[in-house]
Amino acid sequence: MISAEPVSARLIEGLKRLEYRGYDSAGIATLEAGRIQRRRAPGKIAALEKLHKRKPLAGQTGIGHTRWATHGGPTKANAHPHATKNVAIVHNGIIENHRALREELAACGAHFESETDSEVIAHLITAELEADPVPARAFAAAIARLEGAFAIVAMIAEAPGLLLVARQGSPLAIALKGDEAFVGSDAIALEGLADQIIYLEDGDVGLVEPGHAQILDRDGALVSRSEQPLFCQGSVSKAGHAHYMLKEILEQPATTERTIAQYIDDKGNKIQMPDLDGVDIGADRAIIIGCGTAHYAGRIGEYWLEGIAGIAVETDIASEFHYRKAPNPTGGFGIFVSQSGETADTLAALKHAQGQGLKSLAIVNVPESTIWRTADARLPTQAGPEIGVASTKAFTAQLCALACLTVAAARKRKRLSSQEETRLVTALKEMPARLSEAISASSDLDAIAEDLATTRSVLFLGRGPYYPLALEAALKFKEITYIHAEAYAAGELKHGPIALIDKDMRIVVIAPHDQLFEKTLSNMQEVAARGGRIILISDAAGCAAAKDVAHHSIALPACDPFTAPIVYAAPAQMLAYLTACSLGVDVDQPRNLAKSVTVE
Ligand code: F6R
Repeated sequence: MISAEPVSARLIEGLKRLEYRGYDSAGIATLEAGRIQRRRAPGKIAALEKLHKRKPLAGQTGIGHTRWATHGGPTKANAHPHATKNVAIVHNGIIENHRALREELAACGAHFESETDSEVIAHLITAELEADPVPARAFAAAIARLEGAFAIVAMIAEAPGLLLVARQGSPLAIALKGDEAFVGSDAIALEGLADQIIYLEDGDVGLVEPGHAQILDRDGALVSRSEQPLFCQGSVSKAGHAHYMLKEILEQPATTERTIAQYIDDKGNKIQMPDLDGVDIGADRAIIIGCGTAHYAGRIGEYWLEGIAGIAVETDIASEFHYRKAPNPTGGFGIFVSQSGETADTLAALKHAQGQGLKSLAIVNVPESTIWRTADARLPTQAGPEIGVASTKAFTAQLCALACLTVAAARKRKRLSSQEETRLVTALKEMPARLSEAISASSDLDAIAEDLATTRSVLFLGRGPYYPLALEAALKFKEITYIHAEAYAAGELKHGPIALIDKDMRIVVIAPHDQLFEKTLSNMQEVAARGGRIILISDAAGCAAAKDVAHHSIALPACDPFTAPIVYAAPAQMLAYLTACSLGVDVDQPRNLAKSVTVE
């Protein structure tokens, strides 16, 4: 940040807006009378703020960072900014050749303070400045030697009022207003500071001064990157709730309704897709790629696209898809699912697929994010800013986009009569009301969560689309309760995992009373016969049919089988949330996690 006013307080405010990206340690550096001064603290931004209150920093040029540890633990020494006497830097990403650079720089006398890969950047720029004192040239020469992924902002002691920036694979944006200049790794950090934003492209190196930026592309040519309105994602507040996660679970009737509404035509009975820029959703084959929760949304979408649209779908985790050399589905299309639109694995997989000529569609929540801009076409979700680290409303919004896509693809492939389409659209339109009922379905949830909090391991089971939903439920549960949880397809239980069942094991079964219910009921009986305690999430008919085997039942409203997986997500989220609360875990910022994972 560059201003005519002291910047430290606003730097800390910006870091707070970015805290969901990482919260192991944080720091700021400013230039005070030509000297780099730093304040860094392990832990959350509150710790940095406390330190800064005791020992404030002056200075009108400054940088700040909140870290998610990759190389080296969350200590003060490893916290950014990293600095030499004359250069301070903040870095997102991973410098893959840091060991070689470190050895080379150390051999020339550089003294390293941290275990991070990032610190080499500061030393490298210092070394280049010795060879060429012009900051922009020295910076560009240093950047040219880096391998890996990075978004870097550097500040030079002798050059107040100047920030040097570089982007390769990790997001970075510049905002200019009056005689101030701001740089952020996320538009959300810049909200309220400026109205326009400039996204850097991979390979860009830039020089930022008050009210002015100059950007060179990877060939060193001066380029103009367009200014775009800074899309305000809305206020980042808990709106009176104890946690962002709870607020976001409760928002789902509205966020799913908004997401669906953008794909329904004016008459309200047909799905209409935006311009898909040559992505042929009538193709026979598709792949769906994502990570974590987004991957599980894709796996539920697989059941829909196969069952309703007759498209042969393959789903994979982005980090595996990228490297397993799978042949692209000839004539097919790719669907890449991401809340943040910045997940490095998903982005790398998208570029890999595009490199092989696959036309790709992104289902993304954050407009103008890198995946949003890289894909050939996009289906936005309308979840709004998701701040809780555990994804909830983004997941159900992704399901809505996939459901709408399914209807459009089925129509294009002549798999759907007009009447059937109307039924599916009606189910979609009614779903938010069912979701609302499902959120408040059971008054027993607190008691069930208290019981779950006493266990060491929980198994989640489901069949059909409720199998990937069980995978998602287990992920949600383990990431915020720290209790081991895993999910199996109910039919797979007898092939091994049944050995785990004893009287201490809790088994959450997600199974509406559909055509597969009787089979799942048999699996429940196998569990009950071995003393396992079952928590059943079903509808009234399912709960009644399983009353002799389930210890607890959560009865959801009857809903259309098409949209039921979206509705059934809510109690699974609530169970994870309430169990974590009863254990006193920091629900919104569980240990070791970051909201947006911009390293591979
Ligand atoms: C889990 C969770 C993660 C993300 C994953 C992908 O609750 O949030 O598993 O789903 O890191 O992130 P996006 O969707 O931003 O690509």
